[in-house]
Amino acid sequence: MSICFNENEKIFTIQTKNSTYQMKVDMFDFLLHLYYGTKIENGNMDYLLPKADVGFSGTPWEAQDRTFSLDFLPQEFSSCGIGDYRINSINLIEENGCNAFEPRYVGHSIKKGVKEIKGMPYIYDENDNAETLEIYLKDNVTNLEVTLNYTVFYDMDIIARSTTFKNNSNNTVKLNKIMSATLDINHCDLQMIHFHGRHAMERNFERNNIPHGITSISSKRGTSSHHHNPSIILCENDTNENHGNCYGISLVYSGNFLIEVEREQFEQIRTNVGINPENFEYHINKGDVFETPQVLFTFSNNGFSKLSQNFHNAIRNNICRGKYKLERRPILINNWEATYFNFDDDKIIKIAKQASDLGIEMFVLDDGWFGKRDDDNSGLGDWFVNTNKIKIGLPKLVEEINKMGMKFGLWFEPEMISYDSDLYRKNPDWAVKIPNRNPNKSRNQLVLDMTREDVREYLFNRMTDILDSANIEYVKWDMNRSICDAFSALLPKDRQGEFYHRYVLGLYDLLEKLVSRYPDLLIEGCSGGGGRFDIAMMYYSPQIWCSDNTDAIERLSIQYGSSFIYPISTVGSHVSAIPNHQTGRTTSIDTRAVVAMSGSFGYEMDLNLISDEEKQKVKEQIKTYKELQPIIHNGLYYRLSQPEVDNYTAWQFVSKDKTETLLNVVVTKVCANKMYINIKLKGLDENKNYVVNDKIYAGSVLMNAGLIIKNPIGDYPSYQFHIKEYKN
Ligand code: GLA
Repeated sequence: MSICFNENEKIFTIQTKNSTYQMKVDMFDFLLHLYYGTKIENGNMDYLLPKADVGFSGTPWEAQDRTFSLDFLPQEFSSCGIGDYRINSINLIEENGCNAFEPRYVGHSIKKGVKEIKGMPYIYDENDNAETLEIYLKDNVTNLEVTLNYTVFYDMDIIARSTTFKNNSNNTVKLNKIMSATLDINHCDLQMIHFHGRHAMERNFERNNIPHGITSISSKRGTSSHHHNPSIILCENDTNENHGNCYGISLVYSGNFLIEVEREQFEQIRTNVGINPENFEYHINKGDVFETPQVLFTFSNNGFSKLSQNFHNAIRNNICRGKYKLERRPILINNWEATYFNFDDDKIIKIAKQASDLGIEMFVLDDGWFGKRDDDNSGLGDWFVNTNKIKIGLPKLVEEINKMGMKFGLWFEPEMISYDSDLYRKNPDWAVKIPNRNPNKSRNQLVLDMTREDVREYLFNRMTDILDSANIEYVKWDMNRSICDAFSALLPKDRQGEFYHRYVLGLYDLLEKLVSRYPDLLIEGCSGGGGRFDIAMMYYSPQIWCSDNTDAIERLSIQYGSSFIYPISTVGSHVSAIPNHQTGRTTSIDTRAVVAMSGSFGYEMDLNLISDEEKQKVKEQIKTYKELQPIIHNGLYYRLSQPEVDNYTAWQFVSKDKTETLLNVVVTKVCANKMYINIKLKGLDENKNYVVNDKIYAGSVLMNAGLIIKNPIGDYPSYQFHIKEYKN
């Protein structure tokens, strides 16, 4: 049993393999947080609860002394309007205009299985391993209720939390904020890591002390965004990759989010995670329920490597779905950077033919095959094959490519509509825009109103029509702008505040219908690269184009940041042409491949244009990737350096039985007269022997004395060591 309730002490204890989470129902039925951290087999941590008579921190009416205050007690779900002045878990307005909510414990249940969230992605369990604790809290004056859900995966060290709000009152209430989870920590000091960025430079790692006041990361772009990933890590000051306490927190949601962290007057740290309350206003009618998205928590007392491995394991096995969840994905060639919009079927066949000769397994036809689409000004929404470009028709083109022994994949950007499109001319009110205002254009396009069923039905029909017309085994699902001008022509005026969340629900609805109809279809997510790189999208697409930046050196930082939360199998990564189209940088085809192989691998260039020597290398790379893919996708991942700090970037995969490891190194700054780089490996068995370049080393030697790379020279040299156990 990973969840237990001590009736006498009214203490809930959640145990995972390496962590303990504890909370207590206090004498007034408030649910207080006691502890989350390193596993404690038997312990009651309620002595940690602060007790003090503090000025300007009031006490609930029935409290006998002034040492009890909701203003400093750690809570599982904080009240609003009744004396907790820190960031709140909820904010609502009742029919009478009041905005108080006082959550008191009224009961709980412990169930086998997971918490299913209707219409939204959630962590699932195929092996009957999970247990769920539901704690019911009620405001006794209004009868409004919240249920706090904790789904526990013991072996994976994962606790998935979410909140269910139920309106048991007689009136409609307006929800202005409802967080998926609140975590109060008062037993240690913490720093915060987050992953910020911009288009073509996503998920940059940043680590800061948490200042007094409120620090937040968020998105109000309608997507989880390039700018802030919906994940943070809280860690102690001395935590590093191998050592120390850290908490990983990642929201399973693809829309507007908020993660806010407050260091309050007594240095306690409160973290709230959930839908962004800005531009959010939900009307909940009598009897109705509102479910928040889920948030995954993991704790590691062995540093960041273990924390990342916990997330990788959970996302790969219990979030990703479909045929390709664990299978090796076909090595693909994508024509985007090879042709942009300028192609016809002859050109495509030529690129595909060369790719297939070198061993590539799937051809992906990117943007420009439909409607009137010779640049990014027109055509989105008109999902009909453009027979000026694909003169032989799509079924025939797919047949030709299949004949070469390759699968075929196709790009869509379903959520978008071009102003210059037949779809817009016919249904202008399907575009998201505010009446009497000109909408903001971004990449010259508008957004389709995904809250509408008729819009989703149109998209489903167009997409299935195309997908059924030929043997299409992969879809790249793109989304190339941020949303604004939020307004739906179908929502009543008092429901416009629901637009953004309803948009995300609409997106999930369409994706769910498609994955149910085509369980074997591989969907690669994309939003101008990694603008919607979140756990929720991974429920539908087990890989996501990680960034529009295909420069191998910049990718080191992007893939480094991504690796803290997301499994390597979810990272779409391609070898592209040089000079690189985003940075103008030139790197060798070897280095480009070493970097791109740490993901779901492919090429994005015209391979007809490279030298014979390079073609030979591509052939070898394909062979190598096929051999290495099991350890890359199933091995334990270790970061061995920091791209922005060290002169080289090194990372490693270790098979679970420790008989094999893959070490990757890219030297990003070669220095004159430097004898060697020393790299200390991780995760090996110290008592096993390993062979490196025909020499035998003990695991303890490789991990403590390290491996040396002699005299790196040239522009961005790279190294790949596939090291196996030595058996005599
Ligand atoms: C986005 C994607 C690219 C490509 C283009 C096509 O930018 O990230 O990979 O598909 O759209 O317009």
